Amino acid sequence: MPAGMITGLRGVDLGVPDVDAHARFYTDVWHLSVVAERNGSVYLRGSGAYCHILALHPRNKPQLLCVNLVAADRGAVDRLHASVIAAGAPQADQPASIAEPGGGYGFAFTDPDGRQLRVIAGDARHADARRLPDRPEKITHLVLNTPRQEDAAAFWVRALGFEVSDRSLLTFVRCNDDHHSVAFHPGGSSTLHHIAFEMDGIDSVMRGAGRMRDAGHPIEWGPGRHGPGNNVFAYFVGPGDFVIEYTAEIGKVDDNYRVRAPGEWVYPPGHSDLWGATLPPSARMKAAQAKIEFAEGLFRP
Ligand SMILES: [Fe+2]
Repeated sequence: MPAGMITGLRGVDLGVPDVDAHARFYTDVWHLSVVAERNGSVYLRGSGAYCHILALHPRNKPQLLCVNLVAADRGAVDRLHASVIAAGAPQADQPASIAEPGGGYGFAFTDPDGRQLRVIAGDARHADARRLPDRPEKITHLVLNTPRQEDAAAFWVRALGFEVSDRSLLTFVRCNDDHHSVAFHPGGSSTLHHIAFEMDGIDSVMRGAGRMRDAGHPIEWGPGRHGPGNNVFAYFVGPGDFVIEYTAEIGKVDDNYRVRAPGEWVYPPGHSDLWGATLPPSARMKAAQAKIEFAEGLFRP
């Protein structure tokens, strides 16, 4: 098992019908910053070190084009390439230099549920990385719908070295000391459930919720505090019906963390988090959480 070779979740490539409108939203309201534009695509960073965490590409409908994982170094990229093929990835490119802003060395592949992924090492980093009020630092986790929850998690463990942190309705997996970078949600097909952006604290989550309300995107679930991960959350339906989350205070775990079972994450009737203050997830958000599909075919920038 290639434990430790993936060091983080860098971010996602999204396909959108109107790149300019999405880029305006993700800068003016969501508070990311544009770092590059190329061939009609826009690349946005958070306040952390990753070259970019979100890339918007022109497509005729909202789609998840690729999930980008960071490998420790070029040697890890090569070993992970062998590992994903041995674990049954149905498609994989050869490792090579990446011709896009941020560069690096890596490869694209597809997991057995049809998710388009890349493993990248040696890409650019910002020297001014820091946590700032009202600015997402990074994408801290993705939740992905899967028809085969334990099989999906098992592939990510076997092929990529992730470890299971907890099981509730979802299966949470980690690749560093964040409680989870990815979680698998039971669903009919392999689609995006939501994308979570990490803020520097609860006040930044809530001021962000204020900006979202002003921009016509009210809270669809929250504010609340999750059980698994213990993070504070507020969920929104953004442009293109991508479900996006501001979160803070994600729990840190180490090798001694005890994996809990679904029966250990039960809330009182009518509650859906640890505080019990929020209404349940809205019907609008639940519908949006099942409609963004992965693009077909390996992602090639
Ligand atoms: Fe989340």
